[in-house]
Amino acid sequence: MACVSIQGGSPLNGEIHIQGSKNAALPMLAACLLAHGETKLYNCPHIRDVYNMLKILEAMGCHTQMHPDHVTVDTSPALTGEISEADASAMRSSVMLMGAALGRLHYVSIPWPGGCCIGKRPVDIHLKALEAMNVCIRSSDRGLECQTTGLRGSTVDFPYPSVGATENVILAAVLAEDTTVIRHAAKEPEIIDLCLFLNAMGADIHGMGTGCIIIHGVKRLRSIAYRVMPDRIVAGTYLAAAAATGGDVTAVDVGTRDLGPTLDVLADMGCGIVLKNRQVRVIAPPLLLPAECIHTQPFPGFPTDMQSQLMVCLTAARGTSVICEEIFEDRFKIVPWLLKMGADIGIEQNKAVIRGGTPLHGCAVEACDLRGGAALVIAGLMAEGNTLVGRPDYIERGYEDICRDLSQLGAKICKV
Ligand code: UD1
Repeated sequence: MACVSIQGGSPLNGEIHIQGSKNAALPMLAACLLAHGETKLYNCPHIRDVYNMLKILEAMGCHTQMHPDHVTVDTSPALTGEISEADASAMRSSVMLMGAALGRLHYVSIPWPGGCCIGKRPVDIHLKALEAMNVCIRSSDRGLECQTTGLRGSTVDFPYPSVGATENVILAAVLAEDTTVIRHAAKEPEIIDLCLFLNAMGADIHGMGTGCIIIHGVKRLRSIAYRVMPDRIVAGTYLAAAAATGGDVTAVDVGTRDLGPTLDVLADMGCGIVLKNRQVRVIAPPLLLPAECIHTQPFPGFPTDMQSQLMVCLTAARGTSVICEEIFEDRFKIVPWLLKMGADIGIEQNKAVIRGGTPLHGCAVEACDLRGGAALVIAGLMAEGNTLVGRPDYIERGYEDICRDLSQLGAKICKV
């Protein structure tokens, strides 16, 4: 069984280049379906989720190629909207392909998305909005079958700013007749990047980054070359690792504004933060301060995708911290492993109370989800002795090579 082996105790120091964003690249790969011809995405991360998305696009009929510095998706061949269970099994859900497939093919059939390891993740907001855009949705044992006689713009009012639903509606709306307005839309930076990409293809989208996105439908999109934004969660993970190990790390080629919510928490914990051009430097204090109460929230709140990494840092703080997970029901799965390593953490429903100042000791632990896996690696860096993190495949869903990156910063880490 593969695992990540970490010899803890070395502070991280130095500069690290940050890979392209997973959460921007995946909807962009889906968006390629909307243009006839070959689209090139530069800075597309070499991660499992991207490989799996390319596999599904291939199964739909696209020709895809992964090069060292870019990915190409050619949608000229005949395409199918039938996504089988076998094709979709590699990814949690093919839901993010719905809007784009409907825009291109007016039809898509996908297996049930189902729950995943961080929570239930329903799709009701996606479906209600697509129905308002003249999509007929039939559910059966096999999954969801969606068909339209022509997408029509509509005003959709989300009960919650779902990232995935915002992306799906945007992708359905760009080639729809008339105008679509999304009220209570998600404001995540990855949504802005998706809209900039679509506008460069010829779409007419306004208001991205605000709670109200307006999409005027256009007749066609052209294929282009585009550079995916850097990954703010990967950058946040390495900066949190610097804070946790008493280090001094500069993340290079990052969107400094996008990292704001994470940097605010690190600053409250006593870290020095230096912003310069597209670089962020985090300098750990001699002793981390506790965080009074961190609530995970949609952007520009503190990201749920950074919650596990910060929890690990807070085990080293002098005092008690509280984290409230407000987005996903099941995102404290690393806690039993942290207890095994010597942490003192209590859970009450969606609230974790971390009594800091407990040194961690190395042992065998297992990743249960992508960000939780990265957080366990940080715990290994902080711990005395050797830590083995099992199921590195979870981590590889979102990190190109966490061992390569952390070794570059002085960590004693390798995959065994
Ligand atoms: C979420 C995160 C995103 C992160 C991604 C991967 C937020 C707001 N979203 O995006 O930043 O990158 O996970 O970890 O932080 N929901 C419904 N019905 C729906 C859709 C969503 O009830 O149809 C609920 C979900 O159960 C969840 C919340 O809305 O509690 C946020 O979900 P959503 O933003 O859609 O999640 P992702 O797009 O997966």
